[in-house]
Formats: sequence, C-alpha cells, structure tokens
Amino acid sequence: MTHFISIKKAMEKGSGIVHLRGWCYRSRGSNALRFIVLRDATEIIQCVVEKEHVSEESWNDALKIDIEASFELSGEIVEDKRAPTGFEVKVKEIKLIGESIGWPIQKDQSTELLADLKHLWLRSRYMTSILKIRSTVFGAIDEYFRKEGFYEYQSPILQATQAEGGSTLFSVNYFGKPVFLAQTWQLYAEPAIFSMEKIYTIAPSFRAEKSKTSRHLTEYWHAEMEVAWATFKDIQDYGEACIKHVLKKVLEQNQNELKILGRDVKILYDVLDKPFIRMTYTDALKELKEKCNINIEWGKDLRTIEEDELSKLHNQFLIVSNYPKIVKAFYMKEDDDNPDVVHGCDFIAPECYGEIIGGSERESDLEKIKKRLEDMGEDPKNYEFYLDTRKYGSVPHGGFGMGVERLISWICKLENIKDAIPFPRTMLRTTP
Ligand code: 4AD
Ligand code: MG
Repeated sequence: MTHFISIKKAMEKGSGIVHLRGWCYRSRGSNALRFIVLRDATEIIQCVVEKEHVSEESWNDALKIDIEASFELSGEIVEDKRAPTGFEVKVKEIKLIGESIGWPIQKDQSTELLADLKHLWLRSRYMTSILKIRSTVFGAIDEYFRKEGFYEYQSPILQATQAEGGSTLFSVNYFGKPVFLAQTWQLYAEPAIFSMEKIYTIAPSFRAEKSKTSRHLTEYWHAEMEVAWATFKDIQDYGEACIKHVLKKVLEQNQNELKILGRDVKILYDVLDKPFIRMTYTDALKELKEKCNINIEWGKDLRTIEEDELSKLHNQFLIVSNYPKIVKAFYMKEDDDNPDVVHGCDFIAPECYGEIIGGSERESDLEKIKKRLEDMGEDPKNYEFYLDTRKYGSVPHGGFGMGVERLISWICKLENIKDAIPFPRTMLRTTP
C-alpha cells in the first residue's frame, strides 16, 4: 500500500521520494516535458514529468491531466527557489484518477458567474483560505466559551413567536399553521440559564432580509451566549474577550491563508493589543456631530452610514451602549435612572464592517416586558413560557449574539459577506 502524505508534509521532509495526490491546479508543457502543479488541502507544488524518465502509461496519463483532474504521483522532492512554493517534484510515476474536461472557471471571471459555480469555486485558493479561517473561527468560539465554563445548549429552529421584529420573519407552513424560522435562540436560551447558568451555541439563524447589502444573509451562523447573574458590563467584557480569542487563534493558525487573501494583518494585531472603545449612544451622536458634521436626532437608530463614519474614526472595535429604548428589542433592560434608554450594546467592527455583536442585559420586570410586547402589537399570552422566567426565581442576566460570517468577513477583509459562507442564501440566491 502506498503511503500518501500531504504536500505540506512533503515540503517539511524536503528531500527524498514522496507519494502525493490531489488535483491539478494548472498544467503546461511540450510533447516531451510537462509541468503540472498539484494542489491538495494543504498547499500547491510544481511537479515535472519528463517523457523519457517515466513509463509510457505514466506519460499518457500526464497528457490527460488538465485543470482540476485528480491524480496520484510518486517522485523525488527537491528544493527549487524558482518553483511557486519553493519545491518541485521530479515525477517517477503518475496516475490519472478522475478526468476533468472543460473546467468552466477561467481567470478574471465575474462575481456572478463565480457565485453560480460556487460548488466548483470552493476549490480556489481564495475560497479554500476563507474556509480554513472559518474553521478556525468556529473552533475558537467553542474553545473560548468552554474554557470560560459555559455549557453548549441548543434551542429550536421552528418557533411560534418572533424575537427580533416581525419584518424579518420567515414563515413556514407547519401542518397548516404558520411557525417561524429562528431569528435567535434567545427566548429559548433564557429559560435554560436557570438550569446551567452559563450557556452558548453556534447555530443557524434566519432573517428575511430584503436588503441587498454586502452584510446581510438570510441564513447565517449565530454564536450566542446567555449568562445568569451577569451585569451589562460582564456581557460587554465577554464579547470583547471572545472576539480577541478568535482573532488570536486565526493569527496563530492562519498566517498563510491571510497572506493568500492579501490581508494586512497589522490592524488585526492592533485590535488584539488594545482595549475596545466603549461609548454610549449619546456619546456617539456627539462624536458624529463634532468630528463628522453629521446631525442625528436623539432617538433615531444608527444606520450603516453612521456606523461607518464612527468606524473610520477609530481603528478598533466600538462598543456602543445605552441606545434609545424605542429602537431596540422588547427584552432589553430599561436603565434605572433613565427609562428612555436600555442596556443594549452593539459591537461595531473596524474598517467599516458594521455590527458584529448585538447584546444586552435583559429586562427583569415582568410588567415592563408585557407592556413593551403590547406596544409592539404582540399578545403577551403567546410569550407565557418566556414570561415564566421572570415569575419563578428571576435573576439579573444577559447575553449576546455574534454574526459569525460578519466576523469572518472583517477578519478576511472580504468585499461581500457571501464569501464568508460556502453556499450563501440571500434574497436573490438559493442555489447552488
Ligand atoms: O443584533 P441581533 O438581531 O441580536 C439578536 O438576535 C439577539 N437576540 C442576540 C442575543 O442577545 N442573543 O443579531 C445579532 C448579530 C448581529 O450583530 C449581526 O452580527 C448578526 O447577528 N446578524 C446577521 N448576520 C448576517 N446576516 C444577517 N441578516 C444578520 N442579522 C444579524
Ligand atoms: Mg442588532
């Protein structure tokens, strides 16, 4: 049995005979010599096939190896400074495994075509780099919460009520009655803190977003946490530490991928080294007025353009807190001294990547929650299971939700969130 190793392992070995397998990244040559660049999950490497040094069978297979064909080879690895990744394999034997005829992706193709061919475009070094970073991000989120003593907990995806506003609800025909796809785990997470106190999840959330922006998906992965006895400051601290842990892991594990993506990592290190900037909504309005000449009336939500202006002023995450009650969700805690503001916060990413985390301390006053639900036109009866959390041993608590693709978008500095997930779902796209 042939013992295949990865290209990366082969490059670490640096010399001697190696057995490799993967796909053809590109090939060229003459009728006596072929240069085939092999690609596997770890790297690419140039392989040289000389007609006079291989069997007739090998040579015939080498001629058939076109872009994205799969093949195996044995050969001698040698250092070669001129080769794309510093090494070259002098092939002794090569075998075609799966032909690839007429690969449809060429250089400089439109983003629309690449989106139509996403199932094939995943193989690009660009997408592979993002997917590897995505894997690190998911692992790091898990690692962060587990090391902080959180339990992993799952909530239902099919839900009978809304939590983040009716306008972005997806309705599903559930045996003739409507139910909704989860916008958040939150209403089903709060009951569980009475059992486990500190919980987290990474799960899909759904928003029927009609906006065609570079930041919105209709199906995205949502990292959420909920903590009993937590103060508003605790929630912000957890959010900052979580993002920093993820960033640290990506910088440790994905230097190569960040380089392939052309990401300037200096700003990532700066974000890691310095504290996040915390300001209230009212401070944010003041800064917008003084430094950007933008006048926002107190009580209006910050829109993307205002968040971007704030972002341009700081090369750091901003945690904007104490928003007007009227622009935030019904479950956020009213400030004791000022009933017009709530203990909710948004984490605004640097470099104009927008809101990455939304979090809050939760309202504990049963009557206030009921009133806010009624003001929204909701029947508190439908929320009885949720309101019970405030009836039986209510405690101060809070949590946040982080859009994982938004975080990946910023880390990789992507032009569009659609590349932060393998198969994006948006208003205009459900295929492939
Ligand atoms: O701010 P949101 O709506 O907050 C909640 O859902 C809370 N219930 C979370 C909680 O406290 N447990 O959403 C949280 C985050 C946003 O900050 C954003 O990063 C992301 O989810 N998000 C989206 N990401 C991609 N596409 C969309 N359409 C998104 N909508 C929200
Ligand atoms: Mg939000």
